[in-house]
Amino acid sequence: MNDHRITRRSFIKRAGAAAAVSAFPLSVVEMAFADPSQRFTFAYISDSHLQYVKGKEFVYNWDRGLIRAVAEANLLTPKPDFVMFGGDLAQLGMKEELDHGAEMLSRLKYKTHCVMGEHDYYLDLGEYWSKLFGPHHYSFDHKGVHFVVLNSILTTDEWTHKRWPTAKQRMLEMAGLDNPNGSPFMVGEKQREWLSKDLEKVSKTTPVVLFSHSPIQKLYKGWNFWTDDAELVQAMLQPFEKVTVIYGHVHQIQYNQIGNITFQSVMATAWPWPYPESYAQAKHAMPKLTVPMNRADPFFERDATGWQFIDMETGRVVMEYNLYNNTNRVVAYNPATRRPEDRAYQNPAKRIPPQNHF
Ligand SMILES: [Fe+2]
Ligand SMILES: [Fe+2]
Repeated sequence: MNDHRITRRSFIKRAGAAAAVSAFPLSVVEMAFADPSQRFTFAYISDSHLQYVKGKEFVYNWDRGLIRAVAEANLLTPKPDFVMFGGDLAQLGMKEELDHGAEMLSRLKYKTHCVMGEHDYYLDLGEYWSKLFGPHHYSFDHKGVHFVVLNSILTTDEWTHKRWPTAKQRMLEMAGLDNPNGSPFMVGEKQREWLSKDLEKVSKTTPVVLFSHSPIQKLYKGWNFWTDDAELVQAMLQPFEKVTVIYGHVHQIQYNQIGNITFQSVMATAWPWPYPESYAQAKHAMPKLTVPMNRADPFFERDATGWQFIDMETGRVVMEYNLYNNTNRVVAYNPATRRPEDRAYQNPAKRIPPQNHF
């Protein structure tokens, strides 16, 4: 959607201002919506990485990130129809961490759907998580949109079941960002078969939104910003007219368009990952964190953390990033260019020039 289209929130602001200043009839403003019944919003919180220390103690900063997101989501007007939690609720998959996270999420006033992250999974392969949050993959329909949740952080049986002497070691190996002992993520054959059946009953004109933890695209293998069978999943989604994949895991804003599929990532509440300095660098090298980024400061741990408010505008995702220490940003599909764009950043006149770090 372009910049001129009225959003629900700007509508509310304008309607309020109009009523106060000129008694402008509200109904005229309401006419701006083609079909208001189709439109709804949801909130997206992700990557809280709650980390157990000892006794009743957890890493304070990670706790604060999630507490803030929950509190702000509860204050939203208009109320979101539901909340997604995008995975990595825990840091090392511990019962204490998952219980702590479940208790915090239970304070949300809305129905909450959860996505599995690798930090939730690799200690007990998602067993305790399931007790708290349900199945690892599922779908649901809401106001004409088909939503799908996949567990995209699986890997080979050999790596999962045979390589590590203990479950704890397996968890630690998968928890590192640039650990060469990790293994590329995949959705796997079983879920792909399930997805293909699930999508069979969905009309090609129904908007589809798929939630995964890792990107269902191959961005950067060295950091596991990667899903090994991404192309196979993408092929199942391509026939749909409006399809968006929303993912966490990368702790930074990313957006992309592959054929018909719009990809948008969400922020973490815990910390931002920097951008790889070059996607062509050595496979397992951690780039120096001196990064020429203009979207997050890697030396400021609260920069580029936050949560998301998503407006399903005519079946497309309009994502507002609520950044704790930055100006909010909106990334939305632009029908003119047929790709997602940052409503401010994509405009060269408004673009923030690269910052000089030294
Ligand atoms: Fe994460
Ligand atoms: Fe992750």
